[in-house]
Amino acid sequence: MPFLPLFNPRPRISSSKFEPRIHFVSQQSVYEIIVMQPLEVGTRVLCRWRDGKHHPVKVIERRRLHTGGPNDYEYYVHYTEFNRRLDEWVRLEQLDLDSVENDVDEKVEDKVTGLKMTRHQKRKIDETHVEGHEELDAASLREHEEFTKVKNIATIELGRYEIETWYFSPFPPEYNDSLNLYFCEFCLTFMKRKEQLQRHMKKCDLKHPPGDEIYRSGTLSMFEVDGKKNKVYGQNLCYLAKLFLDHKTLYYDVDLFLFYVLCECDDRGCHMVGYFSKEKHSEESYNLACILTLPPYQRKGYGKFLIAFSYELSKKEGKVGTPERPLSDLGLLSYRGYWTRVLLDILKKHKGNISIKELSDMTAIRAEDILATLQALELIQYRKGQHVICADPKVLDRHLKAAGRGGLEVDVSKLIWTPYKEQG
Ligand code: ACO
Ligand code: ZN
Repeated sequence: MPFLPLFNPRPRISSSKFEPRIHFVSQQSVYEIIVMQPLEVGTRVLCRWRDGKHHPVKVIERRRLHTGGPNDYEYYVHYTEFNRRLDEWVRLEQLDLDSVENDVDEKVEDKVTGLKMTRHQKRKIDETHVEGHEELDAASLREHEEFTKVKNIATIELGRYEIETWYFSPFPPEYNDSLNLYFCEFCLTFMKRKEQLQRHMKKCDLKHPPGDEIYRSGTLSMFEVDGKKNKVYGQNLCYLAKLFLDHKTLYYDVDLFLFYVLCECDDRGCHMVGYFSKEKHSEESYNLACILTLPPYQRKGYGKFLIAFSYELSKKEGKVGTPERPLSDLGLLSYRGYWTRVLLDILKKHKGNISIKELSDMTAIRAEDILATLQALELIQYRKGQHVICADPKVLDRHLKAAGRGGLEVDVSKLIWTPYKEQG
């Protein structure tokens, strides 16, 4: 499964920095540009990416350029080897026209579902592995792809950061014409213009998420926000989070969720770093619905902290938990790393026999996740008619090393929390 390249902050390229097109193309291509018809949606072609190399893409959408001739378009492309967060608008000069493969979307019928769909959609559904969408059925996948095919918001401003977005998020229709949005970092109200934000900041009196501070250690604080008591905040957070989460449905019904918002605090206030949401009551033992570390804070251990925190809450509830599926590529990496470290740390220290059930009781990790983790590490063997965990210390050390750094620790003594109880 192609995990790479994963998030890689890139310098912002404004369109004004593009060289005049003619410098990029050969004489022959110039001729082609002048006489050719625009590329069709569905075309497969090679495209020069930010690494300077050509990669296969599929044209998802096209739009006419305001400045230019009738056939002057730019193209929204999906790099077929990479995650959808890297989809982007490109100019014709980036495309290698000699590699054009015309496989334009013509409707065919899927025999299993009876749905009419394009050949691309059918091919995608037929493929046994569809990244991040394994649990979606044909109709949902088609609807999801059609509706979210082009990123609507390109950048957001939040606190000190301007952040490039990764995916489509269904902001209300009045934001349809906005490429950039400005968020108040405390109440998460979003606006179309910077001046609106500046005016808002003068009168917004929040300096932290609107909930109870349930954890504080050094400059890190965690706030619990009840979606029912703070509906607008919850919805704003979901709109924001969807910009970085591909496969999650946006829940407008935020009443049913608690939001755990992690902040770095200083004398200006508590600045959101990331969060996870959790259903107040989960039939499926989910202890986490969505998790996000905002891109400027990623790869610093906050994701592991949030995951560990979600399990600490489960321990306090006396329940086992598991994250809601499907997991994204980055979510899976983070969870696998967490499960591996927690389980192998115990196995390393433990003397004598230990069962999956005991491991689950100690960690609040669901038994299926423990089994899957140990199986993936090839630590489960079938001996004398039963499955046993084989924990050779050298093998454990090797796996622990491969699982990476532990990240920021949750200091449980600083967690002041009681499980959610419906009031009234
Ligand atoms: N490239 C390679 N490995 C990565 C990357 C990356 N870009 N990001 C995370 N990882 C892996 C690494 O193993 C990393 O450990 P390491 O840094 O010690 O090598 C580990 O995951 C976790 O790293 P953290 O720094 O603790 O995690 P981070 O703060 O970056 O947050 C998260 C991880 C929350 C998944 C983040 O990438 C994110 O918000 N992604 C977008 C939203 C998303 O996909 N959420 C999960 C959806 S699934 C669900 O919600 C149930
Ligand atoms: Zn505000």
